[in-house]
Amino acid sequence: MAKIIKHSWAEPYKIKMVEPIKVTDRPYREKAAKEAGYNTFLLKSEDVYIDLLTDSGTNAMSDYQWAGLMMGDEAYAGSKNFYALWDNVKKYYGMPYFVPTHQGRAAEHMISKIMIKPGDYIPGNMYFTTTRVHQELAGGTFVDVIIDEAHDAKNTHPFKGNIDPNKLEALIHKVGAKKIPYVCMAGPVNMAGGQPFSMANLKEISALTKKYGIKLWFDATRATENAYFIQQKEKGYEKKTVAQLLKEICSYFDGIWVSAKKDGFIATRNKKVFEEARNMVVIYEGLHSYGGLAGRDMEAMARGIEEMVKPENISMRVKQVEYCGKQLESYGIPLVKPYGGHAIFLDAKQFLSHLKQDLFPAQSLASEIYEDSGVRGMERGLVSSGRDPKTGEQRYPKLELVRLTFPRSLRQEKEN
Ligand code: F0G
Repeated sequence: MAKIIKHSWAEPYKIKMVEPIKVTDRPYREKAAKEAGYNTFLLKSEDVYIDLLTDSGTNAMSDYQWAGLMMGDEAYAGSKNFYALWDNVKKYYGMPYFVPTHQGRAAEHMISKIMIKPGDYIPGNMYFTTTRVHQELAGGTFVDVIIDEAHDAKNTHPFKGNIDPNKLEALIHKVGAKKIPYVCMAGPVNMAGGQPFSMANLKEISALTKKYGIKLWFDATRATENAYFIQQKEKGYEKKTVAQLLKEICSYFDGIWVSAKKDGFIATRNKKVFEEARNMVVIYEGLHSYGGLAGRDMEAMARGIEEMVKPENISMRVKQVEYCGKQLESYGIPLVKPYGGHAIFLDAKQFLSHLKQDLFPAQSLASEIYEDSGVRGMERGLVSSGRDPKTGEQRYPKLELVRLTFPRSLRQEKEN
């Protein structure tokens, strides 16, 4: 039997190119923050020292991916890179049909349009901003059916991304299965703090949806991290590889969409949905064989899929987040536990306990961190939650968080 190597958080690569960054002082950053209205999204990137806003499109690519860029086949139709990407979607996600899109939200737009009728309900394990908006724009109502533990930053449940089967079944009884076109399961759950679901929960939800004839779709953005957490935390899965687990997870779903940071795609085993998406992509994104993407980008994505499941890569990614979490905790910083797969989420409600939620604690904390250190994080609280489209009332989430997100493979060091 092959020896199982324990990988550390140390990078399994060397860095052969660097990009200069600007070093600023506090008065400079105070001015920049003021000009940005204390909103980290409105800061100029060149005024940021360490950018932990997102892992979306900010990741460093490998030499293998850069080499792939040179192999771009920019044909309008039938690019060879499209077929390379499709092959890897089949191989690693186990889905036979595939439609590329320019971003994850474009995939969400199309899936919502195809599947949702006005008046429908879409249960999900906590919302994601763009996902919920597309469901609402299609006339649906999103219903949060995540377990209660997910709304409690301090709760250390190992699978806070799980769906509560009782909440889901209660909704089915209330509105009727016909009004639920699909259950939307994400993993790890971004807004809950990067929390995974367990394989046991997925099996239970799959059985429940099958019982009522409801489809099950997967927001597979960062699904590799979810697979890794299952391998690390769930009994019976420790000997399986992340690649095997990713495929096993996907086997329970009718289809998936992915924000491949920044590109995206839809993949499904449902031929009818595939055909509708393939027709629709031409209108919104581009021909079905490029969906808004350059050939070279599809090649880099195809190669990225191969690299993301490599044990040393996924292990480093998650362990670097854990390392940062432990350091912050040793300084007494309140944060969401367990640590997420792609980010550490600071608990702004505890951090700035003197601020009422109406005073935007997470937004204030994100801005203050920038002014203090030049590090840019992202608000994940009242502002992200937005307003109810029907009533116009502010939605009050239980969690007020600042996300410090780790771009994959990118390394920015700050001297003490
Ligand atoms: N679903 C999840 C779970 C996401 O995290 C994102 C994007 C999307 C869908 C939308 O995909 O950006 O490619 O259009 N997340 C980024 C973030 C923006 O910073 O968390 P997209």
